[in-house]
Amino acid sequence: MRIVWGVKALVIVFVSLFIVPVAFGVEVSIGPGDMILQTEKARKPADFPHRQHQEAYSCTACHHAKGDIMVIDKCATCHTKNIGNADVNSYKKAAHKLCKDCHKRVNDEDMDAPIKCSGCHAKKG
Ligand code: HEC
Ligand code: HEC
Ligand code: HEC
Ligand code: HEC
Repeated sequence: MRIVWGVKALVIVFVSLFIVPVAFGVEVSIGPGDMILQTEKARKPADFPHRQHQEAYSCTACHHAKGDIMVIDKCATCHTKNIGNADVNSYKKAAHKLCKDCHKRVNDEDMDAPIKCSGCHAKKG
């Protein structure tokens, strides 16, 4: 699997994703641990424990891949009103679709992933 990280291809690694953290025996950056996601307007920042999700899923559960090539970039780079599919033509819609669809799926299998707004968007206080 070839990872193209960012549109400017900051990092290109030729490894199988599953062996990245383990087999190298060295710290390989696989992106942020805990993240706070927000749009440019930052009206509703969302908590996202990225590492926890990485441990449970393959990268391509969330980062798009075409064939062997995975492109990692900010969702907001592409998910704008210019994208063809009106279901995902903003960062908010793309994120809600990705995050909530999976959470609903796993909760059907007796997990407890957040569905309520406040589960991701912590109340300011
Ligand atoms: C459950 C979904 C999910 C999984 C699984 C996942 N990521 Fe992410 N990742 C995200 C989201 C969402 C972002 C934030 C994107 C944004 O800021 O627009 C992100 C951000 C990143 C970033 C930072 C990108 C940037 O431009 O700031 C890197 C690097 C990254 N992920 C690598 C990985 C790798 C490598 C894996 C697999 C080992 C992985 N991710 C698995 C959802 C996921
Ligand atoms: C390099 C551009 C690009 C980036 C970066 C990108 N997407 Fe997409 N995404 C697309 C395109 C193009 C489609 C297809 C839209 C269509 O159906 O016409 C798509 C489709 C989707 C879909 C709907 C199809 C599906 O797979 O269910 C979701 C949800 C989605 N993206 C979420 C995200 C999230 C969340 C991020 C950030 C982690 C992200 N995307 C990053 C370009 C991108
Ligand atoms: C492919 C499936 C999947 C996707 C996509 C996904 N999640 Fe999750 N998420 C989970 C699972 C599984 C859990 C853990 C549920 C449990 O512990 O019972 C979880 C838990 C969480 C938690 C609670 C963590 C805790 O420690 O209580 C937050 C917050 C969260 N997800 C945010 C997000 C956000 C934000 C996104 C989208 C950027 C997202 N998730 C995308 C599967 C997913
Ligand atoms: C599974 C996690 C999750 C849940 C549950 C969730 N959201 Fe979100 N939401 C996100 C993510 C991720 C984003 C994109 C980044 C950001 O702006 O927080 C987002 C974006 C938004 C935005 C856009 C913010 C802006 O600055 O434009 C609004 C508004 C919003 N959500 C409202 C809601 C409401 C209302 C609910 C409950 C009905 C809800 N969300 C439930 C994860 C979630």
